Parts: sequence; structure tokens; C-alpha cells
Amino acid sequence: MHYHDQTMINDRIVLANEEGLRRATDLLRGDGVCAFPTETVYGLGAHAFSTRAVSTVYRLKGRPAWNPLIVHVATAEEAKLLVREWPDTAQMLAQKFWPGPLTMVLKRAQHLPDLTATGTDTIAIRVPTHPVAQALLRSCELPLAAPSANRSESISPTLPQHVLRSIPDVPLVLDGGPCSFGIESTVVDLTSSPPRLLRPGALNLRTIGDVLSSLQLPDAGQQHDGPPSGSVRSPGMARRHYAPHAALVPYERFEAGRLRERPYPLGILTYEEPDQDVAALAVRIELLSANPREYAADLYAALHRLDDAGVSTIALLTPPIGDEWLAIHDRLNRASAPKLGSAISGDRQA
Ligand code: TXA
Ligand code: MG
Repeated sequence: MHYHDQTMINDRIVLANEEGLRRATDLLRGDGVCAFPTETVYGLGAHAFSTRAVSTVYRLKGRPAWNPLIVHVATAEEAKLLVREWPDTAQMLAQKFWPGPLTMVLKRAQHLPDLTATGTDTIAIRVPTHPVAQALLRSCELPLAAPSANRSESISPTLPQHVLRSIPDVPLVLDGGPCSFGIESTVVDLTSSPPRLLRPGALNLRTIGDVLSSLQLPDAGQQHDGPPSGSVRSPGMARRHYAPHAALVPYERFEAGRLRERPYPLGILTYEEPDQDVAALAVRIELLSANPREYAADLYAALHRLDDAGVSTIALLTPPIGDEWLAIHDRLNRASAPKLGSAISGDRQA
């Protein structure tokens, strides 16, 4: 429903039919870039071993050079060609969860250049399940580096229109409609023992636990504001990320008196119908599902809609605690982290 509301005519958003796939393939084979849908979020794709293509991705995203990229391939067999070691754990995880929203960090094959791993000897790999991502990988026959197709630090795109708004210079976006998971892949580092969770994501921990007997969880100390220093192995744990323009302020419960203290206009992001006096304060209310899977699927689109409504504050009802909500809490914590140097937390971000 929201999808069609927001559809606009634009010649760079193309249907992923034969013609669209051909245009995307031509761009990627010519060391260009192209956005495409995956089951998690839209990615900004580039030939993973082309210096020109990868540097275009960094430039268009405004991504800091220390933050590495995930390489997408069509099958686990192709993934094996990119690594120096294929541990049993990788085999088991691939069998169970690929294609799907799991990214594995492995030791990179020696012959491959370090374009996506920013100075480490690793490579992050994922086999997406989205039919358009699969069709594109098979048509271009290239491993595709693809970070989420948004400007660095801002909200990830779950619709083609989000990509175009965040990266106006994107040459092409393959349209696959809304992403079904709506939250990024789970990233697991298999180069350490026991394996380490680098980013909670669409594949939840309990499910991974069925395959991995032990998994080290990230601690708050891994979060950072700049390039990760020496021992920190999780470059993606930037403290502020996934952030809307408005200040996102969490509340355990809403009270009209406290909400009135925040800069207006006010938006509400919740999973419970707010009381009338609270609802009356807001110019826009995003009522998400109380089911974590459905909540995640609509979260980024809801943040985009709240930004579009021009609110200065987004009052967030803190979601429940629990394994299935872990990735959602992770994203909301990063989205509500104040910008460095902003004097008053809770003020409208520039
Ligand atoms: O769902 C997803 O993973 C989406 C879709 C497009 O596939 N992609 C995505 O990419 O979220 P990006 O670039 O926004 O996030 C990649 C994450 C970052 O946290 C990055 O630091 C981490 O993966 N990463 C990539 N390569 C790594 C490596 N060699 N070692 C450790 N972390 C790595
Ligand atoms: Mg991202």
C-alpha cells in the first residue's frame, strides 16, 4: 500500500524484467554501479574486484574508507572460490541458511585484491535469496560488492524510491518492490574461535544457535565513532547509524506531559495504539506490528515516512526485550545515538 503511494515516475527506477536486467548487467560489466533489491534491504552493487566500481560505491555513499563491504555471490560454490579456508562451520551455516540473510566473514583467498576488506585479510560474503538479486548475479556473472544503498549513517532503503532519495546520483535502481525482511543481514565472523556475531540482523540468534554451539556476542566496547582501532574487529559497529533526520527519542511508556517538552512537530513510532491525549500531540503516528518479524519489515519505511512528514522529534515506544527483537534494538539504539558535536541531545539534527 505504502509502496504504491510513493511511486513516482523516474527513468532510473526500472522493472527487473529482461530489459532492466540487461541494463544493470551492462553497467556492472562496465565497472559502473547499480542498485538492486535483496530480501533484506536494497544494495548498491559493484564488481567487487574493480577498483573503479568499488571506489564509486564509497563515493556515492559517502562511506568512510575504513568500513568494508559485503560481497554477494549466487551460490555457496562461488563463495568457496573467494576464500582461503572453508571451515566446517561455514559449510553447516551455508547449507542451512544460504541463500538467505546471513553474511559470513572468512579468510580471503590470496589471489584476490583487498578492495572490499579495508586492509584486513578477510572477506564478508553473502548469498542472497531475492529472485532479482539472484537473476542479476547470474546475468552479470560477477561477485557484487553491495552495501545498503543509502548515504552513510542514514536509514537503509527498503524501496527503490528510498535509494533515489538517499543517493540522487545513482545511475539505475532495479525495482523489486518492498524488501521482505526490511533489516540487514546478520554478520558472523568465522575467522575467530568461537565465531563472533558482528551485527545482529534478519536471521535471528536462536536460529543460528541451532547450528553454532557457541557464538561470541558483541559488547558495547566494540562501538566506535571513527576507524576501529587495532583489536576491534567489527568495523560496522559505528555508534550512530541508520539515523533519521529527526531526533529519535525512546520512551518506556508515553506520557503527554513529557512528550510536550520535545521540539515540535512530533511523530510517534509505536507498536501499541497510543492513548488519545498522546495521539493528539503527533502530526504522524506509525503504528507497527507487535510481531518482531513484521515490525522489522516496516521499520525503515516508517522512519522514512516520519522524516517525510517533517517531524523534529520521533517519540519511540521501546520495543519488547527478547532474542527476536535484538536486531531491532540494535538499529534503534544506533538511530537514536546523538550526532557527535550536537550540543543538546534531542534537538533536531541538521
Ligand atoms: O543485508 C545486508 O547485508 C545488505 C544487503 C544489501 O546485502 N548489505 C549491507 O551492507 O548491509 P553494509 O555495507 O551496509 O553493511 C556491511 C556490514 C558492515 O557492518 C561492515 O562493517 C561489515 O558488514 N563487514 C563487511 N566486510 C567485513 C569484513 N571483512 N570484516 C568484518 N566486517 C565486515
Ligand atoms: Mg548499511
